[in-house]
Amino acid sequence: MPTSARKPIVIVTRKLPDVVETRMRELFDARLNVDDSPMTAAQIAEALKVADVVVPTVTDRIDRAVIAQAGPQLRLIANFGTGVDNIDLDTARNRGITVTNTPGVLTEDTADMTMALILAVPRRLVEGADYLKDAANHWGGWSPTWMLGHRIFGKRLGIIGMGRIGQAVARRAKAFGLQIHYHNRRRVSQDVEKELEATFWESLDQMLTRVDIISVNCPHTPGTYHLLSARRLRLLKPSAYIVNTSRGEVIDENELARLIEAGAIAGAGLDVFEHEPAVNPKILHSDRVVALPHMSSATIEGRIDMGEKVIINIKTFLDGHAPPDRVHPAMF
Ligand code: 8YV
Repeated sequence: MPTSARKPIVIVTRKLPDVVETRMRELFDARLNVDDSPMTAAQIAEALKVADVVVPTVTDRIDRAVIAQAGPQLRLIANFGTGVDNIDLDTARNRGITVTNTPGVLTEDTADMTMALILAVPRRLVEGADYLKDAANHWGGWSPTWMLGHRIFGKRLGIIGMGRIGQAVARRAKAFGLQIHYHNRRRVSQDVEKELEATFWESLDQMLTRVDIISVNCPHTPGTYHLLSARRLRLLKPSAYIVNTSRGEVIDENELARLIEAGAIAGAGLDVFEHEPAVNPKILHSDRVVALPHMSSATIEGRIDMGEKVIINIKTFLDGHAPPDRVHPAMF
């Protein structure tokens, strides 16, 4: 642990909003990445050798091999992000390293973008906008049978993962007239089910056969890797759509691409991909997919809130208290 004579070394792997970086400089010996170039595995390992605290993001893999190289001074990994699938939690715990994340502050932004994709894909929003922008198309005006999408009002939405974000998606979707169905490890409280008029499906397989739109809102863990496997994807109706703003690894992306191409799934709205930043070309170039570059939580307000949470977690920890957003492996 740092002595009172020096400020703790806090290494931040990516550029954060100026206001967050300024505060970090005031409080800590903050080593910032003002160029925002993603760090290599070797650079991350070097950082862990000298930092008291490291602040990684989704683009940094803090795996067993990297943690094995950490110096004894490393006490805290304060993740800038809610998902912690970039960090080997068990290895961190075994080394006595605390891990924190930033839950809550990106719920509404992520739910907004999820709802935007739920609307955009069946209503062909991006396809229509792209068509008009391309002058070569010479739009000839309105036609009664052209650019027809599908109504979402009255359809069944199946939410996989009914945590904070899943519930925030359900609230929005209900206002748009969707019927809420969900699958979760645990059934949510009766009050929440009542408020959302939500139907719980213990069997994910059964829910998949019944719904019109799937929204993936569960974290990526060893237990949810390829939860939407090739077999499960084939349970969906050919008219069904999939929206994913969680993690690409939850879906077998190759099979999803294949089924969309074959017309066995109607389309998808994807903000995350299995091998980010690589995107399966079949997905990228499909008219029936709206693909976004992992931007569901990308608001300046959200990023500042995330930074503040990171700072509170670090400060509380360094002051000798339990940080508010401590992550335990059993939570995931
Ligand atoms: C973040 C996210 O932008 O917080 C998360 O889990 O998926 C994103 O919205 C990113 O992960 C920051 O590390």
